[in-house]
Amino acid sequence: MKFFIDTANIDEIREINDWGVICGVTTNPSLIAKEGRDFKEVISEITSIVDGPISAEVISLECDGMVKEAKELVKIHPNIVIKIPMTKEGLKAVSVLSKENIKTNVTLVFSPSQALLAARAGASYVSPFVGRMDDIGNEGMAIIKDIKEIFENYNISTEIIAASIRHPMHVIQAAKAGSDIATIPYSVFVQMVKHPMTDLGIEKFLKDWEGLINK
Ligand code: E4P
Repeated sequence: MKFFIDTANIDEIREINDWGVICGVTTNPSLIAKEGRDFKEVISEITSIVDGPISAEVISLECDGMVKEAKELVKIHPNIVIKIPMTKEGLKAVSVLSKENIKTNVTLVFSPSQALLAARAGASYVSPFVGRMDDIGNEGMAIIKDIKEIFENYNISTEIIAASIRHPMHVIQAAKAGSDIATIPYSVFVQMVKHPMTDLGIEKFLKDWEGLINK
């Protein structure tokens, strides 16, 4: 399973990119708004850091508006992927854009049937929101498993991005369910690195080493 980072914060992207573990970035209007900076400027800066798919989301709700926004966004960099909400108009936009070889990531996916529709419309990626499903008392990860099974049954090449990841166990569950990608917030990457036994081990090694030096 590949890792993307789910943020529009440049410092977070730089740090995790330096670890060498990510190959893409996802943003959304809320994440962009949090940064309080010009949308296109942020996206352009991200493309200069990470050499991989960078999802930028449209704001329009009508197909024509989405297509127009998408065509402007892809001018920023060839790695731009257009994030489109899972609606009837969104499907139409995905279909138009895929015929023009513009990559799309269908977002706000909450059911396998939505994912299948998005794939058939020509989406490059689908983003099921695991955490937000958990929030309403459903088992978010079950959707990833179902989508994986369906896509495998029909050799569908649309990639699954496990989104709305809230903790390291989500990442492991997504990997076990066969998700192609997990898009992970900065805080969860930091949690994934940490283990108390690692810290204790380093402490002990250094203590023993100092004992040798001071002999
Ligand atoms: C996906 O691409 C979204 O940006 C994201 O994962 C949403 O996560 P949230 O539910 O934590 O806002």
